[in-house]
Amino acid sequence: MNPSPSPAQFPSANWTHGLKRSVLRQMIAVTAQPGILSFAGGLPAPELFPREPFAEAMAQVLREPLSLQYGPPQAALKEQIVGLMAQRGVSCTPEQIFITTGAQQGLDVLTRFLLNPGGTMILENIVYTGAQQVLAPFQPRILTVPTDLQAGMDVKAIEAYLAGGERSAYLYSITEAHNPLGVSLSHTRRHQLIEAAAQYAIPIVEDDPYGLLVYDDELLPPLRALDDQWVIYLGSFSKILAPALRLGWMVAPPALLPQLTVVKEMGDLESSVLIQRAAATFLASGHFPEHLARLRQEYGHRRDVMLQALADYFPAEARWTRPRGGMFIWVELPDGVDTAALLETTIAQEKVAFIPGHAFAVEPGCGRNCLRLNFSNATAEKIEDGIARLGRVIGEEIGKIC
Ligand SMILES: Cc1ncc(COP(=O)(O)O)c(C=O)c1O
Repeated sequence: MNPSPSPAQFPSANWTHGLKRSVLRQMIAVTAQPGILSFAGGLPAPELFPREPFAEAMAQVLREPLSLQYGPPQAALKEQIVGLMAQRGVSCTPEQIFITTGAQQGLDVLTRFLLNPGGTMILENIVYTGAQQVLAPFQPRILTVPTDLQAGMDVKAIEAYLAGGERSAYLYSITEAHNPLGVSLSHTRRHQLIEAAAQYAIPIVEDDPYGLLVYDDELLPPLRALDDQWVIYLGSFSKILAPALRLGWMVAPPALLPQLTVVKEMGDLESSVLIQRAAATFLASGHFPEHLARLRQEYGHRRDVMLQALADYFPAEARWTRPRGGMFIWVELPDGVDTAALLETTIAQEKVAFIPGHAFAVEPGCGRNCLRLNFSNATAEKIEDGIARLGRVIGEEIGKIC
């Protein structure tokens, strides 16, 4: 038998030659070993999945044979999404809703739709890796902007690029509870971003999987509530219901939907009718408000416990974000601390894991002294214990370099 060809011998497309397994997934695999207390992944708490009412909804839709058929986007789900968007402060109609197989597919479809091969993208220097991945096949020229850990993406830096004649295929904004930084875009910057988009006629892709998971009282309007011309909104059921559904949505100008449908069809023909119907039935069953309130209460508590533990156990030189919502806290350690090396030590000595900041960097070398902590997937007791253990190793590490 001939030996199978190595990846290097395989005649794959040029853009794939530099592809490595996602650093993030690799790290999550390492940190998911038994006995490791992991703050690494971005997973919701499995004990909070609404399994019983969802099972009832699923059983109900399975009685209908066409639930297992190919089928168009489900009108009943679009109606429910319009209701969710109203909770988010956005007024829209079912004609503006485009069902996706998760927000990640929404990003992929919009990137294929908006970005030319070799085109230009303005992107935050530290940003969700899935947003970086969808760009890769187009081999774009990426211009980076910094992010302020209190006020969010540096919109003035974007304006400076645009005023200098640069054009981005779209402007990508995780407006609420940024992944990985945990920061929300300030009210002023939201308005500035909308103004820049309109002035230079550049679409904004607002990626908002955490928008309904805000734990503070003050609610800020998403960009889509401020503008319905240039903002295309991406929503997801992954964090508010369950990621295994692989279900999300877009709110987009209706005139674009026929073309977006063709682009989506290239990838998966359509989103699962079964899952759409089950989600719509679950949402119509009346269980969702209570479920969402429980998520907000529990995740809000876990966030508070983690923030308190950071204050109690991390050295004075460390700085971290205070997220209004979502699942992540970003920690900055003094320059000179290498969090990739630190991860090896914390796993070996304390069996605690996190994601080193460089995994999210667009420009290699950035975020080396930073780390992302997830607070949604560990109980309050484990959070307190794990942060105390992490704090010990970090204290020793800083002691060595200072
Ligand atoms: C900012 C952001 N966008 C998109 C996604 C992907 O969401 P989905 O599971 O709906 O594809 C995630 C998942 O973690 C995310 O953090």
